Amino acid sequence: MNTIEEALEVSKHSQIFCIADLGCAVGPNTFSCVNTLIEAVQHKYKKNHSSDAKIPEFQVFFNDHVKNDFNTLFKRLPSDRQYMAAGVPGSFRGRIFPKSSMNLMHSAFALHWLTRVPQEVTRKDSPAWNKGNITYVRSSAPVIDAFEAQFFSEMMDFLKARSEELAPGGLLAIFMPCRTECTLPSETTVIHSFECLGDALAEMVKEDLVTEDLADSFNIPIFYPMASEVKELVSSNKHLSIERFEEIYLPPRLKTPEDIQFGSAHVRAAFEGILSEHFGHEIADELFNRYPEKLEKFSMTSEFTRVEKLEFLFMVAKRKDDC
Ligand SMILES: C[S@@+](CC[C@H](N)C(=O)[O-])C[C@H]1O[C@@H](n2cnc3c(N)ncnc32)[C@H](O)[C@@H]1O
Repeated sequence: MNTIEEALEVSKHSQIFCIADLGCAVGPNTFSCVNTLIEAVQHKYKKNHSSDAKIPEFQVFFNDHVKNDFNTLFKRLPSDRQYMAAGVPGSFRGRIFPKSSMNLMHSAFALHWLTRVPQEVTRKDSPAWNKGNITYVRSSAPVIDAFEAQFFSEMMDFLKARSEELAPGGLLAIFMPCRTECTLPSETTVIHSFECLGDALAEMVKEDLVTEDLADSFNIPIFYPMASEVKELVSSNKHLSIERFEEIYLPPRLKTPEDIQFGSAHVRAAFEGILSEHFGHEIADELFNRYPEKLEKFSMTSEFTRVEKLEFLFMVAKRKDDC
């Protein structure tokens, strides 16, 4: 949080400090992130201003899609919190706050989610029809291009909206998974592990447990860019300056049966909602009974064993004082 302290511009006259968590889900990660951000801001105020300067009150806006379970989020709010809380439903790809109203905006593990599957990949008459796959990693070039174009367009919308909502001197912090530098979208290890779910689904189609049409029309709306591509996009927004850019590496974990179970549970937590929406609730148990075996098989392929690290991006950008 050093960057927050160093880069943030605070005024000793402001009485309210507004923070937004974009893609908050239902907690608890969002609460610990917000605490860390508030501690950094308080520290900054204490360091910058004489003891008579009052630390402003904190207003925290928790944002997610309309269908997010905000009631659960509100019930879980820490009782000892040092902020007023509000929920802001709606997609962060567009404007959700008034102009120049936000001091600090944060988004963790959310920007790789697309708001929708690119339409052309679900149309039978399209060259980009993604038949037999649920992601783009084993697909033809038009499918990959469609996912990639959708990501870049949505990311630009996101940055445009944030650059309008941030007050001059305010900060945007992004944490998101990325694919390894200098690799192709088709080489994204984590997406390959998601495609194993497609293998389990294909098995269920063969056994007439799911119709082929229904399976063919399902895609996971996720894309992993390279961190350098996100950096370029942020740099191309004339209202933002990059204050910190860090690539974080973690070892992939699919070695032990526990890793496989953990990986499977993680994928279930992430995708059960969209799977149920598309196929109905009945499918989940059967699909996730089959998934660990597919994941284990994948963990023994060279596609997985050659991977030494998974990449994440942490970036902080500042709203320039230009208007
Ligand atoms: C993997 S969860 C991450 C939750 C939390 N930030 C964390 O780090 O644990 C991603 C969240 O982002 C939300 N999300 C994805 N796209 C979004 C969008 N366009 N607008 C608002 N929320 C979005 C999802 O609904 C989901 O709750």
